Amino acid sequence: MNTKVWKVDNYVDKLETNPQIVDAAQLLRDNEVVAMPTETVYGLAGNAESDAAVSKIYEAKGRPGDNPLIIHIAEKQQLEQFVAEVPEKAEMLMGEFWPGPLTIIFKKKPGALSEKATAGLDTVGVRMPNHPVALALLKSCGLPIGAPSANSSGKPSPTTAQHVLDDLQGKIAGVLDGGATGVGVESTVVDCTESIPVILRPGGVTKEQLEAVVGEVLVDRALTDEHEKPKAPGMKYKHYAPNAPLYLVSGTRAFIQQLVDEKRQEGLKVGVLTTEEHQAEFAADFVLACGKRAELETVAAALYDTLRRFNQLEVDVIYSEMFPTEGVGHAIMNRLQKAAGHKIINQ
Ligand code: TXA
Ligand code: MG
Repeated sequence: MNTKVWKVDNYVDKLETNPQIVDAAQLLRDNEVVAMPTETVYGLAGNAESDAAVSKIYEAKGRPGDNPLIIHIAEKQQLEQFVAEVPEKAEMLMGEFWPGPLTIIFKKKPGALSEKATAGLDTVGVRMPNHPVALALLKSCGLPIGAPSANSSGKPSPTTAQHVLDDLQGKIAGVLDGGATGVGVESTVVDCTESIPVILRPGGVTKEQLEAVVGEVLVDRALTDEHEKPKAPGMKYKHYAPNAPLYLVSGTRAFIQQLVDEKRQEGLKVGVLTTEEHQAEFAADFVLACGKRAELETVAAALYDTLRRFNQLEVDVIYSEMFPTEGVGHAIMNRLQKAAGHKIINQ
């Protein structure tokens, strides 16, 4: 399949009538799948009402069929089509964070969406992305759109159109190139089907921000105990792993350097994942700065690109600094721990 690449200027007026968006929207109505930029990561969009379209998403990504898709909408009224009830706390969260990096789990209206899109569950995750290209595409096609991250299953999520092409070229109908995404980690997934909301996946909206709006918010126990079964099916899979083994190091930079030196003496090519503040302090084969530690948002924005760059550099082993788990640091450490397969070295 020839994968079309449409370059879109995010800031032109009337994006919905932009010929590239109209072209991509028509492909969605024809049950083809196309990648779109969102404010978090690129998503692989397909018609969530169609088994055929949803199957194409799972096939292109090599995604296990038990992992449901997030449904993307452009208008709140679309919820009525496929959500059974909207609890008050969900209403408050939507008012504050939509459009934005927050996915809310609702009880589903039976039969309204492809069963494959929700992996047969009686709940459905929904979000309204805050990106002009995504919103224009959603409005132009008028469909509820299933959109997982547009990477091959297991790889780091894509934050540029090039990342999408690296994984999916030839397997999807097209990609709308709206430049690099902003947030860099996926949306926060919050279950609002019980009286107290529960975070199933940390992401772009922090626990502190949610609590400021709805009071108490719980965190799925699987996020702090790797032996618990996660409530979000996708959270049980190993994800984001670079090709080389990645170790998170809790210790001083001198200690990390010592680990690096030992491996280099064995003749291995060693990478270090650090931040701009500390880049000059390390001597390794490749020292990559992932944003600025003093601004964790910049670390989130650069994280997946940094993990992908290590693959191009063909290192044998990677050591990474750790980050504080406050604010978006919670999502950063969650993704890094998965990428490392929970391998942590304590000094
Ligand atoms: O930022 C994002 O959310 C991106 C962009 C493209 O919107 N999308 C994304 O989708 O990260 P995906 O498929 O990579 O991750 C969806 C996560 C998975 O862990 C999945 O198991 C969970 O959401 N999920 C979806 N529906 C669910 C449901 N009904 N109950 C529990 N978890 C659900
Ligand atoms: Mg994903």
